[in-house]
Amino acid sequence: MTAAEIIVLPPERWRQAKTLRLEALRREPAAFASSLADEQAFSDEVWIGRLTTAFQRDHNMTWYAELKGELVGMAGAYWQAREKRRHVATVYSVYVAPAQRGKGIASQMLGRLLDELSALQHLEKVGLTVNSACPPAIRLYERFGFEHLGRARRELRVDGQNHDLLYMERRLQSP
Ligand SMILES: CC(C)(COP(=O)(O)OP(=O)(O)OC[C@H]1O[C@@H](n2cnc3c(N)ncnc32)[C@H](O)[C@@H]1OP(=O)(O)O)[C@@H](O)C(=O)NCCC(=O)NCCS
Repeated sequence: MTAAEIIVLPPERWRQAKTLRLEALRREPAAFASSLADEQAFSDEVWIGRLTTAFQRDHNMTWYAELKGELVGMAGAYWQAREKRRHVATVYSVYVAPAQRGKGIASQMLGRLLDELSALQHLEKVGLTVNSACPPAIRLYERFGFEHLGRARRELRVDGQNHDLLYMERRLQSP
């Protein structure tokens, strides 16, 4: 097991979070619904706001993997304030830098994320979408007990190519 530390970032480290997120969007355009251009356009205030709400667990949280002072991975989730939807969380922004893959870092982050979501009493289940052409990510979610719900065809268009998304979910607390 690698010695990566799984941490929450204080808002003052927003530049590192921005660098990692933009690296993920640049390297893996088919893995995320946002494009690099979408998020390169964000102002500093948007990045600081993202880090601040995540730090306060204000309807979202993100866990980062830090190795020798460098951020090498992230895994986030958000949930809604609306009364009818506040029991449902959504996992997003799961990424590990290519040089650090296959060492269990995503598993460490996802495990921590699910533990922390389970500790929030109002949350009962967590869902996600994953590109059907990303087997490592699909296997990761299956190993953590996510079940397949179905496939949405041609949901992402990246450089003119269509991609299907798989919907997956799992419970957070016992019924
Ligand atoms: C999907 C992704 C996050 C997985 O990250 P990762 O850190 O490599 O994942 P893990 O190491 O936890 O698990 C991956 C594999 O490594 C294996 N592994 C775990 N610990 C290991 C270790 N110490 N040594 C070697 N292999 C190990 C796991 O068994 C797993 O194997 P399997 O998938 O064949 O079952 C990464 O590939 C990625 O960033 N992909 C691009 C972005 C993406 O698709 N994100 C998902 C968006 S929904």
